[in-house]
Amino acid sequence: MRSPILDYLDTIIEQTAHIESGALADYIPELAAADPDRVAVALCTVNGTVYASGDTDHEFSIQSMSKPFAYAQAIEDRGLKTVLRHIGVEPSGEAFNELSLDPQTGKPRNPMINAGAITTHALLKDDEESAVDRMLGLFSRLAERPIKVDEAVAASELATGDRNLGLAYLLHSSGALRQEPRTAVTGYIRQCAASVTVRDLALMAATLANGGVQPNTGERLFSRSGTRHLLSVMASCGMYDAAGDWLTTVGIPAKSGVAGGIIGVLPGQIGVAVFSPRLDPHGNSARGVEMMQLLSDDLGLHLM
Ligand code: DON
Repeated sequence: MRSPILDYLDTIIEQTAHIESGALADYIPELAAADPDRVAVALCTVNGTVYASGDTDHEFSIQSMSKPFAYAQAIEDRGLKTVLRHIGVEPSGEAFNELSLDPQTGKPRNPMINAGAITTHALLKDDEESAVDRMLGLFSRLAERPIKVDEAVAASELATGDRNLGLAYLLHSSGALRQEPRTAVTGYIRQCAASVTVRDLALMAATLANGGVQPNTGERLFSRSGTRHLLSVMASCGMYDAAGDWLTTVGIPAKSGVAGGIIGVLPGQIGVAVFSPRLDPHGNSARGVEMMQLLSDDLGLHLM
């Protein structure tokens, strides 16, 4: 019998069908070529059951939704103290790609904006395999299938990556970045180009909801304390300069990506993922935000 949860997810798509506001990300040419009308939503319980509706098997690049997982991995690799020496945990109140560092510390303000995420990528262990391969391995264990880089997206962003490169030079000059800027940015951009579906993302988010343990395989990927730290940073900084609005309305830790995905985590209960490529002025999926708002209202996800 078809689960009523699937019928409910269908209504989330129907209720937001009128939302055509926002624009495709055009600073990465390959993303500007996406089909703007694709849409999908998925939920995964902490028992590992996935419910999904819409374009559930459509692949798109993970983009900034890779940042929380890289941050959690960096905490595993280097320890929280070392990571905090390189990257702050304060909301920046600025756009995700702002060319800014905390003037007091010379560090990126948090790991969810590009400056912090490039710094995070450079902190990942890369002695046995490259940091990118380690991240792909991590994504694959989280999603329970092999996750690969979308080479067209990676090449497209690398060709237009001057802003991130500029940021990386700034970080290098302030001492926050421990790698050669071009190496760090190339790795970071490939990490962002990993190709995923909403099903994958719901499982990844559910692992965070489950305190760092992948619900189906039982593998502990992140420590409980590292996961709690990460979720706190997602709650305060995950939606960039819309973080306050998001926390008061939707009310759960979340992270968006510029290809149109958003993940949300209700600790102890579920991971949520939505996808729709048109973005609002903050770089968050416009229809995705509305879908999350409906899910939060209907299912009582708001933590406060
Ligand atoms: O570095 C960038 O600009 C992209 N690879 C990721 C940005 C992103 O996803 C912003 N989020 N909404």
